[in-house]
Amino acid sequence: MARVGRYYDVNRANWDERAPAHAASPYYSFERFVEDPSYLSDVVRFDLPRLGDVSGIRGVHLQCHIGTDTLSLARLGAQMTGLDVSSASLAQARELSRRAGPEVEYVEAELYDAVSVLGARAFDLVFTGIGALCWLPSISRWAQVVANLLAPGGRLFIREGHPVLWSVEYERPDQLLVLAYPYFEQAEPQVWNEPGTYVETDAEFEHNTTHEWNHGLGEIVTAVLDAGMELTMLVEHDSVPWEPLAGQMVKDDQGEWRLAERRDRLPLSYTLQAVKRA
Ligand SMILES: C[S@@+](CC[C@H](N)C(=O)[O-])C[C@H]1O[C@@H](n2cnc3c(N)ncnc32)[C@H](O)[C@@H]1O
Repeated sequence: MARVGRYYDVNRANWDERAPAHAASPYYSFERFVEDPSYLSDVVRFDLPRLGDVSGIRGVHLQCHIGTDTLSLARLGAQMTGLDVSSASLAQARELSRRAGPEVEYVEAELYDAVSVLGARAFDLVFTGIGALCWLPSISRWAQVVANLLAPGGRLFIREGHPVLWSVEYERPDQLLVLAYPYFEQAEPQVWNEPGTYVETDAEFEHNTTHEWNHGLGEIVTAVLDAGMELTMLVEHDSVPWEPLAGQMVKDDQGEWRLAERRDRLPLSYTLQAVKRA
């Protein structure tokens, strides 16, 4: 268990350092939020047909980072709380909420402490994803947290990078799609050392180590069911809102990236919804 104490400190240092560069980048469009009170993040806009009406509900965005999706849900009328372990990310999220509105509550906590910090059965909607689950060692413990946060009848909404995509080797000169990394959850993390980040930036970083885990799609579904939720939607997409396979992808005008060639080979993301049994 010693590593469990360390993994999120290592990851937090990485996220704390990158948060200001992310907030300043075109990828997160802070100025668009400030200029246009109806502007929504590409991530939330993509899933609007599946999200439905969220006005008036109590929502929590787990691992909210710098708050662009959290604020978008608040703009759709939800009363939002965002939770993240990175204080520097939350500082950016609070500043965006202050400048662009509406008001969002932000809470600094580790994911597995969310119920003790936010309260059980406190939310109608748990929203998460787009690079969230890979930071967590146990998908079954995550699903328990989600179920405990939800009021009976409340809903989990997650769009996430597909676990098959997480297991593919990213930078191959031959551009073959090769399964090089674990698909199933492992006890030990994959340890990476990457100097950059996923947005365009000139910033240079010192804290480049991360600890990450993959979780298979069946493991995710089983964890959700075992935690007392009923699956109501599972859609796999051929697109993802960042460019994981550099040089092999094309971007559409919604900010979604797809394989340039034979895109039917690989699922890139999925949207899953589940409802907590009453
Ligand atoms: C890629 S962001 C995902 C957020 C959102 N989809 C986005 O793109 O803005 C990952 C976030 O997870 C947070 N995080 C990582 N490990 C965490 C943990 N154990 N508990 C809470 N937050 C965590 C990081 O601080 C970071 O802000």
